[in-house]
Amino acid sequence: MNGTSASGAPTKVTLSLGHLPSKKDIKAPWPRTPSRVDPNNPPWPAYRGYHEYSFAHATMGVRLPTILGKGIEDTTRTLNEQSSEEKIVDLVQCIERMEVLMTDLSGNAKLRPIIDDGEGDVALWNKEIAKYFQGKDFMNAPWLFAEAYKYRRLHECFSISKFWSDYDVFYRQKCDTFSRSSDAVFELSMRFAEPFKISDNLSDSGKLEAERLMFLELTQVCLWGNSTDLSLLINMTEDQIKALQSTGGDHLAATEKNILGNHLNQLWETVKDLRGKTGGRIDFVLDNAGFELYCDCVYADFLLQSGLAKQIRFHGKRYPWFVSDVTRKDWEWLLNTMVYGQLFPKASDAEIESLRRLGARWKQYEKEGKWVYEQHPFWCTGYTFWELHTEAPDLFLHLSRSDLVYFKGDLNHRKLTYDCAAPASTPFDVAIGPMASSAGAPKIASLRTIKSDVVVGFGEKGDEIAEKLDETEPGWKISGKYAVVLLSEGRPGEKVRFA
Ligand code: F6P
Ligand code: MG
Repeated sequence: MNGTSASGAPTKVTLSLGHLPSKKDIKAPWPRTPSRVDPNNPPWPAYRGYHEYSFAHATMGVRLPTILGKGIEDTTRTLNEQSSEEKIVDLVQCIERMEVLMTDLSGNAKLRPIIDDGEGDVALWNKEIAKYFQGKDFMNAPWLFAEAYKYRRLHECFSISKFWSDYDVFYRQKCDTFSRSSDAVFELSMRFAEPFKISDNLSDSGKLEAERLMFLELTQVCLWGNSTDLSLLINMTEDQIKALQSTGGDHLAATEKNILGNHLNQLWETVKDLRGKTGGRIDFVLDNAGFELYCDCVYADFLLQSGLAKQIRFHGKRYPWFVSDVTRKDWEWLLNTMVYGQLFPKASDAEIESLRRLGARWKQYEKEGKWVYEQHPFWCTGYTFWELHTEAPDLFLHLSRSDLVYFKGDLNHRKLTYDCAAPASTPFDVAIGPMASSAGAPKIASLRTIKSDVVVGFGEKGDEIAEKLDETEPGWKISGKYAVVLLSEGRPGEKVRFA
């Protein structure tokens, strides 16, 4: 009814719509149009911690508090080894901050801004929180952001301290994993300690074929180095290895079956043409320290020795990230432990020597500038790589000068694909958005063993393949048993322009 209230202010008109058709259940089309995509609204539906069906739920509710608890245990162990009162008091405060984080995490607190600790990423973090996540909590923010935020908060527990700003609660664990991979470590070092040589007796096409087979095998070594299951490497017998060297075919075919999106051949076609180019620069956006990093380096060594690449640039993290990711300290530790360490008491003299020679060669590459290790602040933000060209244009420009950029592992794949529920048949170039379509986008290869929900690039029948696995092998998306090797077209040669 139209009229005025007791105070004299006009009341609102209410129309009756009872005779109009009922509201329809309208499904919004996916993917979202690019202008409507933002960190809280990915192109396809986001995974969020409160989605009980997703791995996000188990991670946010159980895995992250467990990881943090182990971090507290590690720090307490370090605390008990200290003698200086100043350092002890400082470290106790770090532990107290971790306990506050634990309360926030398990109590599902709202996401607060990051304290300015002088890190290069503070502005990026706080801008993203202010723009997209005000009032959001650990469970209702998209999983990728909430999980990254937890690692940033963990870093903050230490970064604002006086003595412990570089402390890595995962360091002991990372070193340990490498020392426990001895069989696979020596399997590779005994083959690659000496610079490899393709037989001179082969014709040019024979040489290229030998190189192709080696490339395919080592790409798989690099890929499966990201798996939690290292058995693929260490269970090979001498005979299997010999057979593999002579033909390459059988073993490759067997492990390739688990690569559900497979651009290995296209990758070889790309890499083999690099030798002729003046550039031949390949970048690795690294994932995990220890054994995976070691596999990455073996692969990078091959790319360099074969002349396929002239320079390799490795991109690590500035601080401890997603438990096992490579920091500069991990990088240095690996190379130095290979040359000087005594990690493997049961190894033979020949094995120790093979590891030493390999490490010495890699350190020499660094000295000569053939290998470069770097760590841009953007890699430790909550942004996906869809935002790389806008939020870190300097890094985008830097990568655009590369002939090929390898992104290793699960988290990098989540960031490339916006970590959302895209259909498994989505072409890789579509799933990575601006990283494929922006002017200057380099060619990108994602080498990832599948350890979380997002899956793309499975080909035209991809949706059926994924559905079948959902029915027959629950947990297939987190087991690390399956993998993808996906390659984008890239738009190199086009000028990069920033708005
Ligand atoms: O916590 C889950 C997760 O982020 C998953 O994406 C993945 O299983 C793991 O942590 C990180 O894996 P990766 O080291 O291969 O990036
Ligand atoms: Mg990792």
